[in-house]
Amino acid sequence: MSVPDDRAAFEEKKRARALALGRDPHVFDAALKAIQAANKYDYPYLWSWMGVPIIQLPADVMATQEVIWDTKPDVIIETGVARGGSVLFMASLLELIGKGTVIGVDIDIRPQNRDSIEHHPMAKRVTLIEGSSTDPAVVAKVRAEIPTGSSVMVVLDSDHSRDHVLAELRSYGPMVTDGCYLVVADTMLGRFNAEQAPDNRSKLWLKGNEPLSALKAYLGETDRFEVDAVVNGKLILASSPGGYLRCRISK
Ligand SMILES: C[S@@+](CC[C@H](N)C(=O)[O-])C[C@H]1O[C@@H](n2cnc3c(N)ncnc32)[C@H](O)[C@@H]1O
Repeated sequence: MSVPDDRAAFEEKKRARALALGRDPHVFDAALKAIQAANKYDYPYLWSWMGVPIIQLPADVMATQEVIWDTKPDVIIETGVARGGSVLFMASLLELIGKGTVIGVDIDIRPQNRDSIEHHPMAKRVTLIEGSSTDPAVVAKVRAEIPTGSSVMVVLDSDHSRDHVLAELRSYGPMVTDGCYLVVADTMLGRFNAEQAPDNRSKLWLKGNEPLSALKAYLGETDRFEVDAVVNGKLILASSPGGYLRCRISK
């Protein structure tokens, strides 16, 4: 007896469920409370990728994997390297895909973090640039690393203040190519009220001065990007709900 090929139907069902989940405020609010409770234990700091700390929640890592596999960019720019887990995670996906480079930008690449990255099996797919991501000289260095004709994805995960993220969006948004993603990390900060905001980070980011506010302002300036409702719909136990923007295909 032959079994029908249900792959397309499975994908369609996943898509519909993710969209429905994204419209269910009750589940999102329950997840927000769980994240807030877990923040006390530094939950985003408990994970590693291939032995190196990655400051993300598992759902963000999964969502980033999905968009990288779907779009297979030649270059991924990430602002905010920290200990290196996220640049190495994305580099490992590019290694499996068989092409590409991650350009990691950080204002402070500490020697031990540079060591972890530069001696990692995925190091050959990582280029590090030290400096503030919004410094025009740094932006120019990043641009110079992108080979002509490359497809480009951008992840913004550095200083989470509204003005900084908005400046990054204006500098790096135009580098994202048709169909690729612009990911604004830690948009969850825009969903917490003042009592819920994590107070155990390097700075206190309160609603109005965080990445989601910057993202909203940027979407008012450009129509190049659309919020991917399917990916974001699933991001309930995640740091970056609403942060996955897809660059529209220009006609
Ligand atoms: C949240 S951590 C990045 C986490 C990392 N993406 C990961 O998933 O493991 C933020 C990083 O942004 C860096 N940073 C802060 N201000 C910056 C700026 N103006 N330009 C570039 N990097 C900055 C910090 O040094 C820190 O390493």
